[in-house]
Formats: sequence, structure tokens, C-alpha cells
Amino acid sequence: MVQGIANWNTEETEEWLQSYVDDWVAFYRKHTNDGEVASYIPVLQKADPDDLGIVIIGKNGINIHSGDDDIPFTMQSISKVLSFIVGCMERGVAYMLDRVDVEPAGEAFNSIIHLEMKQVKKPFNPLINAGAITVTSLLEGNTSDEKLKPMLQLLEVMLGYRPEINVEVYESERDSSMRNRAIGYYLLEVGFLESDLNITLETYFKQCSIEVTINDLARIGMILANDGEDPDTQEEIIPRQVARIAKALMLTCGMYDASGKFATYVGIPAKSGVSGGIIAAVPPRVRDEDLPFLEGCGIGVYGPSLDDKGNSIAGIRLLRHIAKQWDLSIF
Ligand code: DON
Repeated sequence: MVQGIANWNTEETEEWLQSYVDDWVAFYRKHTNDGEVASYIPVLQKADPDDLGIVIIGKNGINIHSGDDDIPFTMQSISKVLSFIVGCMERGVAYMLDRVDVEPAGEAFNSIIHLEMKQVKKPFNPLINAGAITVTSLLEGNTSDEKLKPMLQLLEVMLGYRPEINVEVYESERDSSMRNRAIGYYLLEVGFLESDLNITLETYFKQCSIEVTINDLARIGMILANDGEDPDTQEEIIPRQVARIAKALMLTCGMYDASGKFATYVGIPAKSGVSGGIIAAVPPRVRDEDLPFLEGCGIGVYGPSLDDKGNSIAGIRLLRHIAKQWDLSIF
């Protein structure tokens, strides 16, 4: 564990932390060989499986960028956190939680079977596909562009630019979306959807195709870590209650059926996507020891080689290592 630095907010400590992270990224890059790039959305196969990068943005102003930190990739399931947040901001928390639960599913992200087997009254949570498609149907607007506008606006406020939808990825997912269409038809049959199915799916595929970098994810993670407030301007960007629910969902459901292990071994609210991104929000911690990022930080990771659950294989191992070294766990 790192100890002995009284003031972490200096250029020297930034360089020092940076050199540690550079070593760790170089080490965990070898672990990318243990996984595979997603192929069920054909265009995602173009990603380079050896890529691995991380950005850490501290509330104290310390920024670490290491490895492949400038590669744009699509948010995929990370967008589910944002659509839930936007839904809560538009409709209110009670409205959303009446229609989607907050329980881990313990099933694959695209499972259909649990919906029917368990005769659920609402989808398990907003971070699995069934829950996310339901959430997207609850967003205001009659077209996919109308539904997506508030999400893109929220991203613009947080990132300082408006991200674009990667049309190639959108079309690839749309044209290979048998499973999500099956989930959608089931949700339609049981009456969970509040918008037209085709518009809902079009919106969902577009939100998954919003292109970002790990710097963007780290910035969003930092705002979530800070309960929805931008630490630089003190502006409330996401209502505190909504930011807290989002983090609770990330911790309990964000890594799909590996969420329990991630909570146990890493202990940070996080959300992954099949293109290889992970967003993590490290809230401020109270520790007697002298440790980096005690004020909290946001982390973005990119590593498109995935494990069998659909999470970045080297990304998770890298996060686990950093969380252990710097005692980032919230527990
Ligand atoms: O709906 C899908 O299958 C993708 N657009 C998103 C899935 C995803 O990112 C799950 N991640 N681990």
C-alpha cells in the first residue's frame, strides 16, 4: 500500500502515481490474451484485443492517463446508467422504480428466461437489457431523436462537448438484434413498455452507439462519485438522490452476473459495456492512512478483450489491482 505522502495534490505525486499506473497497465495488457472481443455485434470485432487504457480523474485535480487512452469506443451498456438517470430526471424516481426494480438478476445481461420463469412484475433492474429497454420506453419523446436529446444534452454538460452516435455500430447492432427484439416483444406482451417497440429499440441501439473515450467516462464517474455535483463548478448536474441510486445499481448490478465478485474484490460502483469500456465512481473515503484519491475520483477503462460475462478481462484485473493498492473499496 502507498504511504507517506502528506500532500497528494502536487505535480510530483501525479508523476509518481502515473509511473505506478503505467507499470500496472503494461503488466495487465498481457491479460488481454485471456479474453475475446465481442462478436455478436459484428462491427465490434474490429477492435484491437490488445488495447488497454485507463484514465483516473481525481476531485483533487490529479489526472492519470495511461495506455490506450485516446481510442473512441461506443458506450454500449454503460449508456444504461445514463438512460436511467435521465428517466429519473424526467419522470421522477418513484415513477421509474414503479416500473423497473433494483434487484440483481444473477443472469446474463441479455437473458430472457428469467423474465418468464420468475413471472416478474417489472424487469429486475435498469442495467440488464430487459430493464434498459423498458427504461428507454419510459423516456419522454415520440421519436428516437427526441428521446435521446436529453441524454446527449446531459453528456454535453458533463463533458463540454456533445458526443456523436457511431452510425456504423448502430446499424450493425440494429441489423443483428434478434435477441433484443425477442426481449422487446416479450416486454410488449406483458405490458411493460410505454412507447412504440420499434422506436424504443431504435433509441436503445442508438444510445448504446454513443461514442466516448475513457477520459469522458472518468469525468462522468467523478461527477457520480461527487453525488452528481461538478466539483469544479459546484453545479448540481444530476440530483443527489438519483446519483446515489445510480451508484447503488452500479455496485449491485453493473457487472452483470459478476457483480458480487466485483463488489467483493474491487468494491467500487462500476458499469461495463461489451465494447470494452468500464466506468467507475470512487466516492470519498475516510481512512487514517495517507492514500491517493481520498477525496474520490472517477475512472474510465478501455480494454475490448472480454471475459465470459462480457466484461473487459484485463480492465477488471487492472481495476482490482489499483483498488487493492490504493484501498479504493467503499467498504
Ligand atoms: O444490447 C446489447 O446487447 C448491447 N448493445 C449492449 C450490451 C452490453 O454492453 C453488455 N455488457 N456487458
